[in-house]
Amino acid sequence: MTASTTIDALLAWARQVLDRAEIENAVQESRWLVGHALGLEPHHLVSQAEQPVSSEKKTQTESLVSRRAAHEPLQYILGTQEFCGLEFHVSPAVLIPRPETEVLLQEALRAVDLNKDSVVVDVGTGSGCVAVTLATILSRARILAVDRSPEALAEAKANAERLTVADRIEFIEGDLLSPLRDRGLTGQVDVIVSNPPYIAESEWAGLQPDVRGFEPRSALVSGPKGTEFHERLLCDSREYLAPGGSLVMEIGQGQRPAVQQIAEQLGGYTPVEIAKDGGGIERIVIFRRQD
Ligand SMILES: C[S@@+](CC[C@H](N)C(=O)[O-])C[C@H]1O[C@@H](n2cnc3c(N)ncnc32)[C@H](O)[C@@H]1O
Repeated sequence: MTASTTIDALLAWARQVLDRAEIENAVQESRWLVGHALGLEPHHLVSQAEQPVSSEKKTQTESLVSRRAAHEPLQYILGTQEFCGLEFHVSPAVLIPRPETEVLLQEALRAVDLNKDSVVVDVGTGSGCVAVTLATILSRARILAVDRSPEALAEAKANAERLTVADRIEFIEGDLLSPLRDRGLTGQVDVIVSNPPYIAESEWAGLQPDVRGFEPRSALVSGPKGTEFHERLLCDSREYLAPGGSLVMEIGQGQRPAVQQIAEQLGGYTPVEIAKDGGGIERIVIFRRQD
């Protein structure tokens, strides 16, 4: 590319670099990256195609495009991801919220009794996408958001502040449900919702480079089986759920039989209910504590 360049030439260059790096959506992504670097909405790039670009902005664009060409997720570069229509800030300290987790959110909402002051716990809150979205909808609920990672909690808190619900969520650093005991919540929780790590250790090497190279391993990998966190949550939730309370968890493809079997062996729950994601995959399991 020449030293002085136009928006149009910068777009063409970015598209070519992304194409060469085998980024699937190169046309769209080049618009988002160039628009982000220039501080312009992507649709304004067309009307300003012949405008010159300063060398400072050109360097900034080149840096963003090189990061994407190295397969860093677009969301970390742009710094945001939409979830349930809300904008969440994301950094490499947190998992990028996925569309299938919107089904988890829907099922958690279905499990909440809107006529009472429910207690809802989001375990492994990450960016806070689940707890924060719930807080924007459930004005009467007490919401607790737990994560083992202080960096993730800081990100979740900042998202809650931006979306003006920080005063309605208690953010707690800790291991799964263990912080609940000190808070006197034994037998008091109406809904425990979690998108826990559920990738088996053996699957890690086969994940896409965008995921494996950039997203936090501790947010994704569970253990040798992939269902270790589900097992711990099924085991421990019985102590904290109120009678009839629900444990709503996201699972990986094909994990439903194993998770169901764990619940049956442990006992204390009604038969599993299942919700599928947009691709028809069994994605959410719902267990109610037997009265
Ligand atoms: C799959 S991510 C889910 C993040 C977010 N809830 C979402 O759906 O996008 C799992 C989260 O669980 C957290 N985590 C991992 N082990 C944990 C543990 N033992 N106790 C609490 N949180 C844990 C990770 O730090 C990560 O933020």
